[in-house]
Amino acid sequence: MVDELNNIIDYLKDRINIEPDIGLILGSGLGVMAEEIHNKEIVDYEAIPDFPVSTVEGHAGRFVLGELADKKVIAMQGRFHYYEGYTMKEIVLPVRMFQKMGVQRMIVTNAAGGINLNFEAGDFMIITDHINLMGDNPLRGENIKSLGTRFPDMSEAYSTQLIDLAEKAAMDQELMLNKGIYAAVMGPSYETPAEIRYLRNIGADAVGMSTVPEVITANHAGIEVLGISCITNMAAGVLPSPLDHREVMKIAENVKPDFISLIKSIIEKM
Ligand code: HPA
Repeated sequence: MVDELNNIIDYLKDRINIEPDIGLILGSGLGVMAEEIHNKEIVDYEAIPDFPVSTVEGHAGRFVLGELADKKVIAMQGRFHYYEGYTMKEIVLPVRMFQKMGVQRMIVTNAAGGINLNFEAGDFMIITDHINLMGDNPLRGENIKSLGTRFPDMSEAYSTQLIDLAEKAAMDQELMLNKGIYAAVMGPSYETPAEIRYLRNIGADAVGMSTVPEVITANHAGIEVLGISCITNMAAGVLPSPLDHREVMKIAENVKPDFISLIKSIIEKM
């Protein structure tokens, strides 16, 4: 894996001039954020040797590097999901690239189902903590010491400093921002109403099929994390209507302007 990673970094070094400080992982329907980046340098996933290729609808599949709110960023437009069949190692390869490129802080976004009954579709939720129910961990297997410690601490997986900063940014934008716990499941089927009641009972506020592998790896890598969920729907059984991926994408589309101004304002303050 180290050789593979070094090959990728060598490939990128020949093609990009930007040394990013902030990594952005953009979730379903939220990839549009990358359009806001100035002085862009683009690297398609399929051009990178040994790099996995994204298959899900609404994902472009490329890195966009450049400047956003006067900060140097690298955005991953289109991420890899466990339910697509990728291994955990493939899913977190971009975070390892961030680590090797010297990225110190990472903003990760996702689409999620609202479990907390005070939430509504279209709300944003700052992730304060997570529950990993994916049944796997990206750090399973041999630990590569140069990348991080065998048993990384996860007691502040989401940086309280970045959470405070995000709350200030939301206040400036007069945006309502919830805070809560994200439960990650494997998918791709949505949850049953019974599963949602279970998740509510164990303390989850939102549920999704991503983010946790990247966040575990970022913690292992010593990268500070901010996580933001877009509540694209209320989870199964909360409302009478069935869940529909098109509905999820539509809500993500509707919140785009608010989402972009929030992320920009956060990066400005970082
Ligand atoms: N469940 C799981 N993942 C999701 C959901 C959901 O309701 N909405 C968006 N991603």
